[in-house]
Amino acid sequence: MDCLSVSRLLCREYAGGTYFSFIRSAGIIYCSPELIDLSNECLNQVYLTARFFGDVIYRKFARTGFSVSAVGMGTYYDFRWIAAAALLGKQFSRARIMSAIRTGIDAGINLIDTAEFYRSEELVGEAIRGYDREKLFIATKVFPTHLRREKVIRACEKSLKRLGVNYIDLYQIHFPNPRVPIAETMAAMEELADRGMIRHIGVSNFSLPRMKEAVSSLRKYPLSSNQMHYNLIHRDVERDILPYCEEMGIALLAYYPVAHGKLADAHGGKTNVIASIKSRYGFTTNAQVALTYLISRSKNTFPIPRASNPVHVSENAALGGKLLSPEDIEALVSASG
Ligand SMILES: NC(=O)c1ccc[n+]([C@@H]2O[C@H](COP(=O)([O-])OP(=O)(O)OC[C@H]3O[C@@H](n4cnc5c(N)ncnc54)[C@H](OP(=O)(O)O)[C@@H]3O)[C@@H](O)[C@H]2O)c1
Repeated sequence: MDCLSVSRLLCREYAGGTYFSFIRSAGIIYCSPELIDLSNECLNQVYLTARFFGDVIYRKFARTGFSVSAVGMGTYYDFRWIAAAALLGKQFSRARIMSAIRTGIDAGINLIDTAEFYRSEELVGEAIRGYDREKLFIATKVFPTHLRREKVIRACEKSLKRLGVNYIDLYQIHFPNPRVPIAETMAAMEELADRGMIRHIGVSNFSLPRMKEAVSSLRKYPLSSNQMHYNLIHRDVERDILPYCEEMGIALLAYYPVAHGKLADAHGGKTNVIASIKSRYGFTTNAQVALTYLISRSKNTFPIPRASNPVHVSENAALGGKLLSPEDIEALVSASG
């Protein structure tokens, strides 16, 4: 079996993530319907498949000069997960999440998003150990209650420690806090950049006026990104924020890129448009269509689907280097309402 044939393998998940089978995208059964136990052997197969799917798209992240995979990985699990981690010190599905993140890195994804609030920084730190740090682009966020100068510095020191790294590629303000002048927070961010603790400055959940305020508060460094809710169903950012990002060379990190799984649901996307795009571009999942829409619509957009299932991460990484034509982008928008 050569690499190209392996790259045509599809991972399909059965029984809630307990079993996998591997079949060819052409529909020819390779070693299926063999169900393999979720064991190291199975995870190795997932790694192998992820590696050979190939064709991960990379693009420059804003004006940083850093080449980042167009599709990244998010590490916000849910609120119960955070509460259990915070109150009980228990991280559910830790091994599975760890292998999901590593599967993504092995597949070529180098953008990983976390936040002090998510309680996943330590986990990310452990997952990236052993990989070439210089090739990864680690993004984390400071919580809105930590936006005064001393608190920003302290929060960053703690994030660095939890991540086990000596710099953060992208440090983002998680949400605006109207009680703290943005100029004070941005001055602290610039101080962190001067001290080499962070490389680039970003924001999240900033409206266009707030983004403009953030841009004009920065003295030495540009604003590199805004992280916003953006997917095929929820396209508000296309009205104002995305055009501004394009004009200013600012990256847009898209969170909820598959609408919590809704856009990945086979039953949710059975429109003729999605089916036609899937077959013409050789995509195997609806999630791939949803992610490719985002990265085709603008070269500044970087979706960050959650990494918790190695199979889904492999599928999300495997976009085959393809972008949608303007006609297909338009057709998807019309079909999505
Ligand atoms: N800045 C902010 O305020 C903010 C807010 C929320 C989130 N975020 C960031 O954005 C990231 C993504 O957000 P999210 O996780 O809530 O939304 P999401 O990625 O749109 O949705 C995650 C859901 O989609 C499923 N999924 C992903 N890929 C799939 C595939 N190929 N096939 C089938 N199902 C698939 C996941 O299932 P599995 O888990 O089984 O794969 C999970 O249930 C977060 O992890 C976080 O880093 C930022």
